[in-house]
Amino acid sequence: MSRQTQPEIRTITVLGAGTMGRGIAHVAATGGYDTCLFDISGDALEQARTEIHGNLEKGVELGKVDPAIAQRARELLEFQQELGSAVSKADLVIEAVPESMELKIDTFQSVVQSAPEHALFASNTSALSITEMAGSLDRPERFAGMHFFNPVHLMRLVELVKGLETDWETLQALREVAESMGKEVVEVKESPGFVTSRINALIGNEAFRMLQEGVASASDIDKALKLGLNHPMGPFEMIDLVGLDVRLSVLERLSRSLGDLYRPNNLFQQYVQAGRLGRKVGRGVYDYDENGKKID
Ligand SMILES: NC(=O)c1ccc[n+]([C@@H]2O[C@H](COP(=O)([O-])OP(=O)(O)OC[C@H]3O[C@@H](n4cnc5c(N)ncnc54)[C@H](O)[C@@H]3O)[C@@H](O)[C@H]2O)c1
Repeated sequence: MSRQTQPEIRTITVLGAGTMGRGIAHVAATGGYDTCLFDISGDALEQARTEIHGNLEKGVELGKVDPAIAQRARELLEFQQELGSAVSKADLVIEAVPESMELKIDTFQSVVQSAPEHALFASNTSALSITEMAGSLDRPERFAGMHFFNPVHLMRLVELVKGLETDWETLQALREVAESMGKEVVEVKESPGFVTSRINALIGNEAFRMLQEGVASASDIDKALKLGLNHPMGPFEMIDLVGLDVRLSVLERLSRSLGDLYRPNNLFQQYVQAGRLGRKVGRGVYDYDENGKKID
């Protein structure tokens, strides 16, 4: 069903104040939107406030954020622990709760009870089906994916994911929001791993295959991609940052839908079995000191 006009988006509510939600709230507020960040955890909200204010301050110090915009962003930000109040005035609700279909659907079903009739809905899911989330609501045409990247206030891309029923007005409105947040948009039809995770998973898996075959050392494979192909990080540095367990589960999911090309490499699986989960535990492909610095 197509709509005549979509009301202008002025108020954004972000659900989940973790790694991604706090970053999305940051760029919503610097984009000039009345922004409400919601979480069930008061601690997460407090940490989010401290981190967003710290990042704004750092941006100003480095000359990357206008002091007036930073000040305005602080004024536009509200932190809420009560869902009904958090979404009652939202023109757009962006969800960034943990990656579970059941949790996301439950959350959206509560949200629609208090959100205005005209509100749009977006999920920041890394890999779950937008069509399935949208299908659980009575207004699937108002639902899309907005896939941000970590750290949100620095990374420039948003993958705008079109579910089966997402309509043109919703995509246009969300594109404008992302651009007002200072992001570049690519539009992606819903498919496993969208564009970025699908390519990235393949590169990481292939890097492990080469390591297992003894083609080159891990640090030389990283060096080759950085200096020869101009990648800002090597594939192993990236895998250590994301977490080997997280990346392995993405590969397993992609191999189920996209076939054998994505079957996780043996050595990769052994690293996870050995507990080498990446920077977060101090060892992955590389070892890290207590400050998270790579030990050479
Ligand atoms: N971390 C990344 O690099 C990254 C990148 C792109 C997309 N994503 C996706 O973003 C989403 C969030 O990931 P994250 O890394 O920010 O997770 P996170 O664990 O850092 O944060 C999740 C937050 O959600 C809160 N929460 C839990 N249940 C809730 C509920 N019912 N209502 C409101 N808040 C609730 C938690 O208290 C926590 O603060 C996931 O779908 C993930 O796949 C993550």
